[in-house]
Amino acid sequence: MTTKEKTIWECAECGHTQNKWAGSCGRCNQWNSLVQEQQFREKKRFETKSETKSKPVRISEVSTASFERLQSGIGEFDRLMGSGVVKGSLSLIAGNPGIGKSTLMIQVAYQFAKAGNIVLYICGEESVEQTSLRARRLGIDHDNLYLLSETSFRAIQKEIKSIKPTLLIVDSVQIMYKDDLPSAPGSVVQVREITMEFLHLSKGEGITTFLIGHVTKSGEIAGPRVLEHIVDTVLEFEGDRHHGFRLLRGVKNRFGSTDDIAIFQMKENGLEEVENPSQVFLEDRSKETAGSSIGCALEGGRSFLIEVQALVTSSSFSSPSRRSAGLDQNRLALLLAVLEKRIGYRLYNSDVFVSLAGGMRISEPALDLAILAALASSFVNQRIDAHTLILGEVGLGGEVRAVPRIETRLKEGIHLGFKRAIMPKRNLKNLAPKFREQIELIGVEVVDDAIKKLFN
Ligand code: TYD
Ligand code: MG
Repeated sequence: MTTKEKTIWECAECGHTQNKWAGSCGRCNQWNSLVQEQQFREKKRFETKSETKSKPVRISEVSTASFERLQSGIGEFDRLMGSGVVKGSLSLIAGNPGIGKSTLMIQVAYQFAKAGNIVLYICGEESVEQTSLRARRLGIDHDNLYLLSETSFRAIQKEIKSIKPTLLIVDSVQIMYKDDLPSAPGSVVQVREITMEFLHLSKGEGITTFLIGHVTKSGEIAGPRVLEHIVDTVLEFEGDRHHGFRLLRGVKNRFGSTDDIAIFQMKENGLEEVENPSQVFLEDRSKETAGSSIGCALEGGRSFLIEVQALVTSSSFSSPSRRSAGLDQNRLALLLAVLEKRIGYRLYNSDVFVSLAGGMRISEPALDLAILAALASSFVNQRIDAHTLILGEVGLGGEVRAVPRIETRLKEGIHLGFKRAIMPKRNLKNLAPKFREQIELIGVEVVDDAIKKLFN
């Protein structure tokens, strides 16, 4: 039968398909994300793959022995995966180009190779020589570690059969292709089908697989969101490539918690775990200048102190600029409005810049009061005592709201030698008395109180 090939439009961000082109996706509303695809014959594919031998089993008969996990030896990475990588699982490491995905994965590959596992690293983006050069520079060399420069899935499959790796790393999923599909590598169809193939490989052969995926706004590259449903684990690399810090965030994890992060630092010899983030973040803080304050953020299970820097200067333009790096722009606008209305600072003709030290990105409301304090400090040009920790969420009425897990945050401050904490009064009520012996606690109800306590 000769059926006419049908053309459809598929969203590169969410995978939604529609028959007609439009400026934005009909489901996720992303602009310019629709790409032309040939309709894939789904029916046929399912017919050929329907010979599985699965049988229904009683729930009580399912073996509940815990999954076999492999430890990489990189503590932060293992913790994020849920105390090790589950054997036969499929994970996606996503992030902007140049953020350090290849570096992390070659380091992970090395650790697994050292532990006696056969590791196959497929470098589709770089040549074997480039990857090997990078590995040498990082001091990585092991007989169990194989490199393969290949982008055709069929060829990769053949090599996997002969090498039989325990661990497989695919760098990157966007460059791989199956030659029986009409679309170009990187298209939604290719990326999804390739991922499905690796899923079958990892589950069928018990090969622990990591796929590296790029995140771009360009419509031609499949956004990893299309893949999120297929894989077991999604880790996202965040950070500013001009700063040393890299945050690996667990976005999805079928074998562990997602509410967690791992922090790394990019050094000359690769990514290094940051075990004590507070100390590292506060390393080059400016103690003597106005406009700097210290707050405490909670990300996943971890708390860390972070410096907020603000600069308020008089503007020579009619519409002053308000810029923030690492913080939510709307939150900044809100805090500026509170400062104007509740404290009476005249900021409407000032340029305002706020940033978080180290290129971190945090959207926690518990940092509000610290941001507000940094703004105020720069505005009145008085510095904040270097041993004062500032905690609290700020409401529209200028009230300082309680923050969750106050004890964890205070502990972090005490640990790093902070002497005072300006914090929400409501949080004081249920606090264990032992904290008062270790740090001076100043409860505040409204931002006005906090400002008075900071600059009397
Ligand atoms: P890379 O892992 O190639 O990024 P990705 O695979 O996500 O595109 O890392 C690229 C950046 O990391 C590059 O700008 C150089 C830097 N880098 C270091 O600073 N130190 C190192 O030891 C290595 C290997 C890379
Ligand atoms: Mg790379």
